[in-house]
Amino acid sequence: MREQDLTETERKIPDHVAVIMDGNGRWAKKHGLPRTEGHRVGAGRVREIVEKCLELGVKYFTIYAFSKENWKRPGKEVSGIMKLSEVFFNREFNRLKSKGVYFVHLGDTENLPPFIIKIIKNMERNNAVERKLYLNIAFNYSGRSELTNAVKQLCTLVRQDEIKVSDITEDKIESFLFTHGMPDPDLLIRTGGEMRVSNFLLWQIAYTEIWVTDVLWPDFSAEVFLGAISDYRRRERRFGGV
Ligand code: IPE
Ligand code: IPE
Ligand code: MG
Repeated sequence: MREQDLTETERKIPDHVAVIMDGNGRWAKKHGLPRTEGHRVGAGRVREIVEKCLELGVKYFTIYAFSKENWKRPGKEVSGIMKLSEVFFNREFNRLKSKGVYFVHLGDTENLPPFIIKIIKNMERNNAVERKLYLNIAFNYSGRSELTNAVKQLCTLVRQDEIKVSDITEDKIESFLFTHGMPDPDLLIRTGGEMRVSNFLLWQIAYTEIWVTDVLWPDFSAEVFLGAISDYRRRERRFGGV
């Protein structure tokens, strides 16, 4: 369909939405519960938003579930998150896959427990055929580490005379990122109110619209999500132009 054939509403639905799902710990504290409970309720929020993305026609939905820096947390919390990720996968993978959700892991498998690596492999092997929506799960992810790896791979290619230094373009760098071939996020949502990007998609968010809410991730509903989308639709994106 041509751009001019779309209605105003359709034209401005973001193709790619990324979310920093923050505030699980504060939510738990507020309710007098252990932090892991916040992560459990938070994980349960994902499905509703994914379904809303399908309904709206969002093509890529990227969620920040566990950063490389999150290893600094107490062992009990980290193992709780790992266990919950397994529960999330077992509950949601087949269900969402049957709706045309294609799962992608963004991040390194290094240091992850074997049962999580097994889940990632299974996901890649048995993924959806139809790709209505890419669900990118940033897990053991760090934007700086992603870029460092891209630099290492490019240096190796130069040293092996497979490419010249002058062949290193922005597209070439992009081809070594976990998100290769995908459009950059149009909209980045952060829940929990912090005004920072916490090492998320550093290259990809160069011109992304940012929307921050004080709502804690376990309270993030489809309604709040729609609020972010309608705010985005009113934004004027300039990409450095006038
Ligand atoms: C985000 O919630 C989830 C992860 C980082 C895994 P937090 O656990 O960071 O929640 P707050 O920021 O402490 O409230
Ligand atoms: C960002 O939240 C990472 C995830 C949501 C997975 P953090 O809670 O780790 O971020 P900081 O530490 O407040 O910057
Ligand atoms: Mg946090």
